[in-house]
Amino acid sequence: MRLHWQGPCLVVRTPAKLNLFLDVLGKRPDGYHELETLMVSIGLYDTLRFQSNESGRLELSLNSASPGITPFMRALLPLDERNLILKAAQMLRDHTGCTQGASIELSKSIPLQAGLGGGSSDAAATLVALNHFWKLGLPSRELHALAARLGSDVNFFIDSAPLALCHGRGEQITPEPLTQPLHFVVIKPPGGLSTREVFQALQPDRAPRGSAAIRQALHSGNLSLIGTQLHNSLEVPAGVLSEEVASALAALRRTSSVGRLMTGSGSSCFALCAHQRQAVQAAHQLRATCRGQVFVVQTAT
Ligand code: C5P
Repeated sequence: MRLHWQGPCLVVRTPAKLNLFLDVLGKRPDGYHELETLMVSIGLYDTLRFQSNESGRLELSLNSASPGITPFMRALLPLDERNLILKAAQMLRDHTGCTQGASIELSKSIPLQAGLGGGSSDAAATLVALNHFWKLGLPSRELHALAARLGSDVNFFIDSAPLALCHGRGEQITPEPLTQPLHFVVIKPPGGLSTREVFQALQPDRAPRGSAAIRQALHSGNLSLIGTQLHNSLEVPAGVLSEEVASALAALRRTSSVGRLMTGSGSSCFALCAHQRQAVQAAHQLRATCRGQVFVVQTAT
């Protein structure tokens, strides 16, 4: 994520993610699932603007000129205390005793219920930005502890790692080197999927596959090998809940690309492409034949 000042406003640009690999290792006594997942940050961003609020309140508004805002998103996006941004801000105040307020404007480009981590990324950006804005001085370790309480994917975005291997619920992060930029075309079908419902529909019947092979492929930089190792255990249950996932994957298979996968708990799916030109060509083809939003992106640095 990138932070910069615009006069008295602190502006943060925070990315989406894709899961290149996701294995569910088992169900835990607390109801969550133990995961092994490999995530990359991609160049699709939400922007948050933080301003002081003299009343001491925490206020969130949506920039109605947000480029990617659709009626579907608007209906799904609460702007009250149910929003992870306000939960993160309140958690930071409770943790530190800070009484300062903030007015936060969200410019939304990352689709919701999409498996792209938009809500988690916004929450991570809020923790990092308000720690700076309110001069709280919390070390990264404490921001991570708060992040883990907000959601399983929030930790990934705190340190802005381009690639990371994640364990536990997804909150235990080990950054990995990324040897080259990766190019993708992403399709977000019209409908979304609830992460909770996708995990509920999962049938835990397979032995885990392990991320060693795809990590080795990523380190070697061999794109065809990376393409053959893309894997997501949640693709089957998501496909049971939404025909749109199967259609999106079928449409991606018809493009010229290196490998295809659903990201996170869906509903977005992506193709790994050999280069940006191939991703742009695939996007043209998808826009002509499919409903939904199509993005050409590369890994964020
Ligand atoms: O942690 P987060 O709030 O993003 O998770 C949403 C829901 O997804 C959880 O309430 C849980 O039902 C499911 N989940 C899970 N195992 C994980 C992550 C999420 O079962 N590792």
